[in-house]
Amino acid sequence: MLETRDLTKVYNESVLAVNELNLKVDDGEIYVVLGANGAGKSTTISMLLNFIEPTSGTALVGDIEIPKFPLEAKKHLAYVSENVELYRNFTARQNLSFFAKLGGRKKVSNEELDATLGRVGLPEEAFTRRVKTFSKGMRQRLGIAIAIMKNAQAVLLDEPTSGLDPKGGADFLNLLRQLKEEGKAIFMSTHDIFRAKEIADRIGILVEGNLERELTREEILEEDLEALYLHYVAGYEPEEDATESITPE
Ligand SMILES: Nc1ncnc2c1ncn2[C@@H]1O[C@H](COP(=O)(O)OP(=O)(O)OP(=O)(O)O)[C@@H](O)[C@H]1O
Ligand SMILES: [Mg+2]
Repeated sequence: MLETRDLTKVYNESVLAVNELNLKVDDGEIYVVLGANGAGKSTTISMLLNFIEPTSGTALVGDIEIPKFPLEAKKHLAYVSENVELYRNFTARQNLSFFAKLGGRKKVSNEELDATLGRVGLPEEAFTRRVKTFSKGMRQRLGIAIAIMKNAQAVLLDEPTSGLDPKGGADFLNLLRQLKEEGKAIFMSTHDIFRAKEIADRIGILVEGNLERELTREEILEEDLEALYLHYVAGYEPEEDATESITPE
């Protein structure tokens, strides 16, 4: 379980990036946050990971307060970023092994490493290739493998599907579904309304640091998500006679 309580960030005593955010991601749930550039998505994720300190409020993973017990909290959090930080001169297997150990795993067999690399859809020939030769999609897959290996309770993803091809994006959603089925609490940001609609159990629309709207799975399926997003983010309203003009005689 992941939770924020009045979580707030003010940068340089002047920029209110996240304003008293209250949300909850249950185990086995995928929460997707949508919002324009600068809405505060990455700031929220950075506070959940304790990369930056909240100005006020707090966040929890399970019953651990993240800003108060960062080292303990870190054990339960896995992060997949837009630009996965990997050791370029290490192979995929070496990166995975390195990060597994960093995440507290003592002994990891090559079988387990290879099984995980296979599970995220990396071809076998890539296991022993240096990561600097990888495409973006391959790096993203390796990032997910690292998160799987850590077996953390909560997985945070900042725009994980940006720059993936359609097949890569679809594969990625399937991996997220698997993590969900394992009971992980998943929190991700995206600009991709189409994928959000497909995968999210809950959607939050963030506007200038404020959570303007939350949707349940039922609402996500019923509502015109794009129109709703534009309504909150840009104040667009549908044209009054739009439906009439496209109705055939
Ligand atoms: N290190 C920083 N110092 C000062 N202001 C910052 C810093 N990081 C972010 N901001 C500001 O905080 C606000 C929220 O930024 P944030 O990066 O969280 O948005 P975002 O929703 O992730 O946007 P994007 O979709 O472009 O990734 C913006 O106004 C941004 O300019
Ligand atoms: Mg961002």
